[in-house]
Parts: sequence; C-alpha cells; structure tokens
Amino acid sequence: MALALVTGASSGVGRATVLALRARGWEVLAVARRAAHLEDLASDCAAAIHPLDAADPKAVDALLESLRGRTPDLIVNAAGAGRWHRLEDTSPAEARAMMDAPFFAAFLITRAFLPGMLKRGSGQIIHVNSPAAYQPWPHSALYAASRGALRSLHEALRQDLAGSGVMSSHITFGKVSSDYFLSNPGTEERLPKIAKTFRTLSPEDCATLILRLIDRPKAEAIHPPLMAFYLTVWRVWPGLVRWIIRITSPRP
Ligand SMILES: NC(=O)c1ccc[n+]([C@@H]2O[C@H](COP(=O)([O-])OP(=O)(O)OC[C@H]3O[C@@H](n4cnc5c(N)ncnc54)[C@H](OP(=O)(O)O)[C@@H]3O)[C@@H](O)[C@H]2O)c1
Repeated sequence: MALALVTGASSGVGRATVLALRARGWEVLAVARRAAHLEDLASDCAAAIHPLDAADPKAVDALLESLRGRTPDLIVNAAGAGRWHRLEDTSPAEARAMMDAPFFAAFLITRAFLPGMLKRGSGQIIHVNSPAAYQPWPHSALYAASRGALRSLHEALRQDLAGSGVMSSHITFGKVSSDYFLSNPGTEERLPKIAKTFRTLSPEDCATLILRLIDRPKAEAIHPPLMAFYLTVWRVWPGLVRWIIRITSPRP
C-alpha cells in the first residue's frame, strides 16, 4: 500500500487530507504537535500517528528512524502557523516560530525523506501555501516571509528534481474555513477585503483539490479560480495588484 506522510494533521487542511487519503485506501502517517488531536484522528480513520514538532531537527530524525528505512510515496507539508503583524510589532521569538512552520518544518521533513525518494526514483512532495507567498498584504511581514520562503524552496526543488522521478508541487489556497483564525487570533480581521470576492474553501474542499493534484501531478496549483485569475494579473501587472490589496486592506 502507498504511504503518505502528512504534517499539520491535527487540524484544518492537514487533517482533512489525512481523512481523504485514508478514504482512498492510502496508508497515512499523520504528524503534528498535539497528540490528543492526532489520537482523535487515528480513532476516526485508523491513520498511524506520530506527535512531533516538525521544526525540531531531532524530532524529525526520530521520525525517520521510526520508519526503519521505509520512504513515503507522498509528503503533504501542511503544517503552518503565525499571526499577521507589522514587522515592528513582531517579537524575535514569534518571527522564529513563524519561520518554523511552514518553512523549516517543510525543509526538515523533505530533507529527511528526499534521499529515499531519489534512490527509488519516485515520489511527490506537496507544499500547502498561502497567496502571501506571491503578493504579501499589509501587516503580514513575517507570515509573508515564511510563505515566500516556502515557495522559493519549492521552486528550487523543482530545478533540482527535474528528471529525477520525484515531483515538488505547490498548492495555494485563498481563505480556508479551518481553525487557523482561532489559533492565530487577530489575523482574520486583517484579511484584505479582496478575499471577500472569492469563495472561502472548506478544509474538505482543500483535501479534494490535493487529491486532484496527486491524480494529475503538476508543479503549481492555485484555488479558487478567481484568486488564480488575480495571481495571473499579478504576474503581468504586480504594481496594480499590490496597490489594490493595499488600499482594500483594513488599517487596524
Ligand atoms: N486558513 C486559511 O485561510 C489558509 C489559506 C491558505 C493557506 N493556509 C496555510 O495552510 C497551512 C495550514 O493552514 P490550516 O488552515 O490548515 O491551519 P490550522 O487548522 O491552524 O492547522 C495548522 C496545522 O499545522 C500544525 N503545526 C503548526 N506548527 C507546527 C509544527 N511546528 N510542527 C508540526 N505541526 C505544526 C498544527 O498542529 P499542532 O498545533 O498540533 O502542531 C495544525 O495541525 C498554513 O501554513 C496556512 O498559512 C491557510
């Protein structure tokens, strides 16, 4: 049976992805820090669980050892956190935590299993990201920096993995109705108003779109379609989109 490793599995996009993969018959190893949430997930769908801080190199080494040489066929890097602040309102500790997940978590998990995937000559690594990876909005300095770093990590992997049989995929969602905004208070109020023009996705929608990316692998996917259109305009005319986002962003 094919093995998937999903980070951020205790909530939101990661959790929904574990459930969708299990429903499709995948063997899944679900990771996140909150053991109780993972135990609930395991009782819902019989996923294997491994509580860990995915940004802790020693914890990721222990995860690698626990698999005794088995290499996942699929990695979904969905762990992520962080509130939206201006740079001068971001403490050094919070900045480091925001770089920890998603960026360092994706780096460490990918680094642990990529050699096995390359040796086997197959595998897919899916990075879950935010539109801030393309165009940051006001009051999002470290959040955007971490998402931008994740997108660059994917683009660099894309170069390195060409012809290897291993694929790096980057999937970007607009607003998702997960617990993200509860876990990161003060953030939802700072969402640019342009987000009201496109559909809010549920975690289950995101899981369906991730499964579609597994069925039809490609390097980049953006959802929903209207946000993908905005990012197409951004590629052609970044100054216009930057300005629209700035003038439609709440000023707390
Ligand atoms: N919600 C949105 O509107 C939205 C839109 C686009 C993109 N995104 C991005 O998608 C990612 C997931 O968001 P979500 O909406 O699913 O949020 P969520 O419901 O808050 O889930 C985040 C997950 O990340 C895990 N996590 C955070 N830090 C971790 C760490 N150091 N090690 C291991 N796991 C860690 C959390 O679990 P533990 O706390 O148990 O570790 C949780 O399972 C984030 O990067 C977010 O920026 C979100």
